[in-house]
Amino acid sequence: MSMNSAQIRETFLSYFAKRGHERVPSASMIPGNDPTLLFTNAGMVPFKDVFLGSDKRRYDKATSAQRCLRAGGKHNDLENVGYTARHHTFFEMMGNFSFGDYFKKQAIEYAWDFLTNELKLPAEKLWVTVFTEDDEAYDIWAKDIGVPEDRISRIGEKDNFWSMGDTGPCGPCSEVFYDHGPEVWGGPPGTPEEDGDRYIEIWNLVFMQYNRQADGTLEQLPNPSIDTGMGLERISAIMQNVHSNYEIDLFQALIQSAAKIIGTDDLNNKSLRVIADHIRSCSFLIADGVMPSNEGRGYVLRRIIRRAVRHGHLLGAKETFFFQLVDELVNQMGEAYPELVEKQSIIKDALEREEQQFARTLERGLAILSDEIKQLDGTVIPGDVVFKLYDTYGFPVDLTADIAREQELTVDEPGFEKAMAEQRKRAQQASQFGMDYNEQIKSEQKTAFTGYEQVNGDAKVVELFKEGKAVERLEAGESGIIVLSETPFYAESGGQTGDTGKLVANSGVFEVTDTQYIGKAIGHHGKASATIQLGDSVKAEIDAERRENIKRNHSATHLVHAALRNLLGEHVTQKGSLVEADKMRFDFSHFEPVSAEQIAQIEREVNAQIRANLSLETQLMDIEEAKAAGAMALFGEKYDEQVRVVRMGDFSMELCGGTHVRSTGDIGLFRITSEGGIASGVRRIEVVTGEAAIRYTQGQQAMLNQVAAEIKAKPDNLIEKIQQVLQKQRELERQNEQLQKKLASQAGGGLVSQAAEIAGVKAIIAELDQADPKSLRELVDDLKNQIGSGVVLLGTANGSKVSLIAGVTGDLTAKVKAGDLVNQAANVVGGKGGGRPDMAQAGGSLPEHLNEALATATTWLEQQLS
Ligand code: ALA
Repeated sequence: MSMNSAQIRETFLSYFAKRGHERVPSASMIPGNDPTLLFTNAGMVPFKDVFLGSDKRRYDKATSAQRCLRAGGKHNDLENVGYTARHHTFFEMMGNFSFGDYFKKQAIEYAWDFLTNELKLPAEKLWVTVFTEDDEAYDIWAKDIGVPEDRISRIGEKDNFWSMGDTGPCGPCSEVFYDHGPEVWGGPPGTPEEDGDRYIEIWNLVFMQYNRQADGTLEQLPNPSIDTGMGLERISAIMQNVHSNYEIDLFQALIQSAAKIIGTDDLNNKSLRVIADHIRSCSFLIADGVMPSNEGRGYVLRRIIRRAVRHGHLLGAKETFFFQLVDELVNQMGEAYPELVEKQSIIKDALEREEQQFARTLERGLAILSDEIKQLDGTVIPGDVVFKLYDTYGFPVDLTADIAREQELTVDEPGFEKAMAEQRKRAQQASQFGMDYNEQIKSEQKTAFTGYEQVNGDAKVVELFKEGKAVERLEAGESGIIVLSETPFYAESGGQTGDTGKLVANSGVFEVTDTQYIGKAIGHHGKASATIQLGDSVKAEIDAERRENIKRNHSATHLVHAALRNLLGEHVTQKGSLVEADKMRFDFSHFEPVSAEQIAQIEREVNAQIRANLSLETQLMDIEEAKAAGAMALFGEKYDEQVRVVRMGDFSMELCGGTHVRSTGDIGLFRITSEGGIASGVRRIEVVTGEAAIRYTQGQQAMLNQVAAEIKAKPDNLIEKIQQVLQKQRELERQNEQLQKKLASQAGGGLVSQAAEIAGVKAIIAELDQADPKSLRELVDDLKNQIGSGVVLLGTANGSKVSLIAGVTGDLTAKVKAGDLVNQAANVVGGKGGGRPDMAQAGGSLPEHLNEALATATTWLEQQLS
């Protein structure tokens, strides 16, 4: 019985649906709310919380065909793709699940029944494994099902104890294998030849019993449960009587399409398999909201795309090919996955862009690598070469490793990591150097910041700096920096601007114009109105109103960050921010402009969260604990062990040291004032909040009113009125043009009769009143036609501008070129021009010389013709 993949998928799902299982659609490959997992890597991932007992569903049995990705993270098959018959980055896992309903016996019986009765696989082709200690499962297979004991193996923890990740649901498992026959190399499970392609695992039945904790201990699940997984591609290969997954219908369609696009007929080439595999993972990742980038999921996507592009190059692809495969993929899988159809054009755009970008450096990088390989002493490509390829040519390490592997070489990964670490250090030093406001100054102090709770407080002057040097005092009128024993002033950091305010001493006041860190000390920059010296007591007072505005803007960055991610997708991450009193700026990763409608949606969402008046909680936590709780951290930022987590209801949770409102309602109003791109893949929005947002809104309204008043409309019929005005204007322009033409041709009529004869050639040289250049050109053509053979030169002055047009009939262009003629005149009016031999035009800026210009041209023409 041969079935295509779609039929097999359907047979599986309906088999279990008929047996009381809820048919659950595939979830995204980006696990919702699960920071422990990079990608959905198994069918059970969307049910993780149901197994753990923290989520209840209305069903206790389910079945699904789940899209999965195994690239990066615990289950990673990327480097095997192309080298074996059965590894994929992307695959579909069909499964049946019991959440505390049936357990081992029923799960085994279903599996056997489905394989032998529904799919009608011969029983003697099937082999079974159980976990070493699982006698119960062994007995079910041997006694209840009747699988001969020589086809049941007991296997250890590595293969027969399945875990979702480092933590989470897990349990012993039992796997069913299929024997592809003696013509394929390989041995049964548990033998040294098991890695061959003869005995292939087709179905894994996991007896979920535990929740693995971060320290490795196993906690019992509330109910013993079942999680099974059967790769659609593997079972399709069996049902279609082929040995390799890449020979099934779905892959063949992709391979043939890739071969056609690239222009190769080597259909068995490994690179075609790699490309066919990779187009699936890349397209689905983008459909699920991931965009190529240099971090996290986006970097996994980028690595896969670049690997595919390199394999296209190996096949001789001359131009961007990868994105073109999306159409065939949609043909094959669009029906089962409508999200693919919906995102088709986004997927193609993103892939094409990434491919173009990489194509620019690919060849150069390959040449460098091949030179290095030629000179190589040994079989390991050194870390600094791998780093150079990464840093300058955009070669992900696994790409270099892939190329190395083809030549039986390896790469020095630790050496690469070291080079990376050094680069990070250099970058950090460079940026600190660039940022440091007063570089020479050093302080050993560590100022306590009291400004989360207070806006003023008493303190002592513990350090003073003037012109970059430590001093004992600042005199009246001198500028400098003061460090206090403690302070409510916030020093610029995390994008939040430094506070301003004053330090009031007995002698006088120090106006603080900015606050910046000096190491761990907080430096108050400003000017003294009287002598201030070490040991003085001061009252430190920040400009509290300004701070309130800063707080509004800072809290708004968190809200907008979450709202952008909700609306545009996971790929949105903060790239930078500037939080000031009057506005804030937020930069984030995204690959296309945010539309006006999306901006409006974001504004509505953020304002809804403001009205919800979420109270703001801050908490100190261990960094790992905070990340595990799902707090947003900035990539590449170095955090202390203890971090401050700022939470706004369930809407936002971020690591942040900044100052914030008490509850979101304090923000008042949120408006986005602009959106634009600042670098490839990075967008910037500017935002106002609170009073500034009200003023912004009023300003817009005032502008609207003014526009309305100017064109004598009311704001609510403004658009209509503007359309009328524009319509009227277009009409007038048309009329004007016609009038011009009419005038010119009237003038032209007179001109023909006034044509002079110069050495037997008819010549019309004349000045016209304020004609526009376009009608002049038409007029020149017209006059040429009327005189049949001759020369025309017309000039007109329009305000301070002169236009000159010359025309020469075709029979005379050998003697006189229109360009030469027009330039004789143009010279005199301070201009220059050009054109064809039979028609040329020029401008000028001295209308008072137009007369003289035409006379000069006439004289020149006489000389020319005589
Ligand atoms: N979750 C099990 C697996 O992925 C079924 O193999």
